[in-house]
Amino acid sequence: MRKTALILAAGQGTRMKSKTPKVLHKVCGKEMLACVIDAAGGAGIDESIVVIGHGAGQVREHFEDAGVRFAVQEHQLGTGHAVMVAQDLLPEEGLVLVLCGDTPLITAETLERLIAFHEREKNGVTVLTARMEDPFGYGRIVRGEAGGLRKIVEEKDADPETKEIDEINSGMYCFEAGFLKKSLSKLTNDNAQQEYYITQLIEIALAEGVKAGAFLIPNNEEIMGVNNRVQLSEAEALMRERINRYHMLEGVTFVDPKTAFIDAGVKIGRDTRIGPGVILRGKTVIGEDCEIGHNCRIEDSVIGNNVTIQSSTILESTVGDETTIGPCAYLRPHAHLGRKVKIGDFVEVKNANIGDGSKASHLAYIGDADVGRDVNIGCGVVFVNYDGINKFRSVVEDDAFIGSNSNLIAPVHVEQQGYIAAGTTVSRDVPEGSLVVGRPKERVIPTWGARKYNQKKEKKNAK
Ligand code: UD1
Ligand code: CA
Repeated sequence: MRKTALILAAGQGTRMKSKTPKVLHKVCGKEMLACVIDAAGGAGIDESIVVIGHGAGQVREHFEDAGVRFAVQEHQLGTGHAVMVAQDLLPEEGLVLVLCGDTPLITAETLERLIAFHEREKNGVTVLTARMEDPFGYGRIVRGEAGGLRKIVEEKDADPETKEIDEINSGMYCFEAGFLKKSLSKLTNDNAQQEYYITQLIEIALAEGVKAGAFLIPNNEEIMGVNNRVQLSEAEALMRERINRYHMLEGVTFVDPKTAFIDAGVKIGRDTRIGPGVILRGKTVIGEDCEIGHNCRIEDSVIGNNVTIQSSTILESTVGDETTIGPCAYLRPHAHLGRKVKIGDFVEVKNANIGDGSKASHLAYIGDADVGRDVNIGCGVVFVNYDGINKFRSVVEDDAFIGSNSNLIAPVHVEQQGYIAAGTTVSRDVPEGSLVVGRPKERVIPTWGARKYNQKKEKKNAK
């Protein structure tokens, strides 16, 4: 049976107090709308249609390649009206799952169970419900004496007795497409908010002898809607817990899962340890048996197996197996490290390839360079890649040795086994196997230091 999701996302989200449309705000690195689209996809939906209105241009642009279609609701005249504007895009038959763009915690499993319940009961409409300790603001689920669904009453339309009901409308529904399409014209707006309510379809169904039911789920977290930044952070915390729990059950150790911030799309291999304060974002992939120590931030990077990283930042880079990084190293975009590389403390690498077994153990800048295998880059080495106007690339071949405090003025080419003496500024190419020394000759002036010391002592004693 054809299954379509209709995701309502035209509302303004005024309480977010943001320039960004509400559904584009992210939870664990993923837009709320993307969370809902993916949950629908995971539940076997054939197609998603998104109703957009406020910030329509931005939302459309963001989800251009997401494989969804859009319906535009110019004026937000209610949830029922939002469905009306998508009427022509809806199929004649099959199921239509109506969802909200601001409920990022809904899972594919719950939607699957909603669909299964709907089909088993042969309902024309099924609403997803949950119990809330504080149901204020939600539509209340009114059931008849035998427990069957009778109607949904909005907070603003509810009498005191109805307000006591703690079973609420999640705003998510499963419809038989034919019933939904032909009933939309019957919606009216004679209610407290003068809006077209999608919830009126329950009464319309029952009046026509179409079966309507409620599917109550025990976990009310999943239907949590985000209306302000407090709720956004609450949703983020719940999602974080879910993500970290998933990784732990898949064989990843967390020193303290409460302080590890892992985006939804990140992959981590087994037996990797994640320290406190670790942030893994975007499309990052971490291999097996890695040690990601405290306070690392890794974004959109691919890390091999058996890699140790301490307190470092890695952006859009790749790191080979058995490499060690940090503490306090900075890999900027397009740093590509081979296997068994060592990038030590306060080393910055940018737009550079570093071959297997090479080392830069302390305090160096390696920018715009191709460094071969088993190269030693000493303390304080600078790849001088920028002349104030242009950037240039340098090449250092296998088994070269770049002594401490050397400057390589790009573009230079250091051939195999080239040896740069400490303190040398290199501005020409270095032939294979040769030594380059470029230091001013030092002078030794005997007793100079002792005289200075004595002067200082005399001055102190005179005080
Ligand atoms: C709605 C339900 C309420 C339910 C609650 C769950 C109705 C009448 N009420 O209330 O029973 O408990 O959701 O959160 O349906 N939207 C549009 N166009 C509109 C209006 C809304 O696209 O004209 C979208 C919003 O962007 C949002 C969703 O529909 O994603 C729900 O809208 P919202 O205004 O939050 O509905 P509530 O009044 O809270
Ligand atoms: Ca709402």
